[in-house]
Amino acid sequence: MNTLKKQNKTIGLIPTMGNLHYGHISLVLSAQKYVDIIIVSIFVNPIQFDNEHDFKKYPQTFEKDCEILKKYNVDIIFFPTIHEMYPFGIKNEILIEISNLSNIIEGQSRPGHFQGVATIICKLFNLVQPQYAFFGEKDYQQLLIIKTIVIELNYMIKIISIPTIRSRNGLALSSRNNHLNSSEIKKAPYLYKIIQNTAEKIIKSKKNNISEIIKISKLKLLEKGFFIDIFNVYDAEKLQFLSKKSKEAIIIASAWLGKTRLIDNKKFFIR
Ligand code: PAF
Repeated sequence: MNTLKKQNKTIGLIPTMGNLHYGHISLVLSAQKYVDIIIVSIFVNPIQFDNEHDFKKYPQTFEKDCEILKKYNVDIIFFPTIHEMYPFGIKNEILIEISNLSNIIEGQSRPGHFQGVATIICKLFNLVQPQYAFFGEKDYQQLLIIKTIVIELNYMIKIISIPTIRSRNGLALSSRNNHLNSSEIKKAPYLYKIIQNTAEKIIKSKKNNISEIIKISKLKLLEKGFFIDIFNVYDAEKLQFLSKKSKEAIIIASAWLGKTRLIDNKKFFIR
């Protein structure tokens, strides 16, 4: 890394947990516009999983991932071991906590998840020392947490966020889509359709009747066979409930289809 920096090369980091899809590739394509050297990390981070079963079941497709990254001219693949990242074991690690953002919404549903994400991201930033790092907007709360880390912990890193990549039917690309069976895969696009429809209604309502609009959308999702974990609209900047001052809103949704938890969001301006 030092040699690259001495040569005045800009370094971009794309942290991933592998099982790459076009969403990750879009991060690589964007990184090509900003940096000389692209480093993709592949590390299935045990401390960000709610339970061991989910961690063990996380698809590991390392060889296929490497082939994809090679095809897109990624310079370095960083794939540390658990011991290298957590030398004192995963129970003794130092945890990074973002007090306002880690424990709400997705963090409330998945206690410890964002502390795990924040911790591994700090470790990766410290090791790789990139000037740029690239993240998808699908994990919106994660993105805000990482932007907060950069400011609060004084990292000299520019965070570039990339819009969610979707299939033609609107379904957000995700490694989790691989777990959907054939009937679930047909229903899955409704999540984003209903999010879009809710956003349109909220815009038209000029912030009136929001709870009624949300209630109706949730009923629609239930009818389609989703089990809802999170479905609400927030201030896009603070992730608090909308206030009169809110200018940009975001609908954040997470819902189960069978055994798969899908997440998605949509940001929009309101008056
Ligand atoms: O979004 C992910 O894949 C993970 O949360 C990340 C950012 C690679 C940290 O493990």
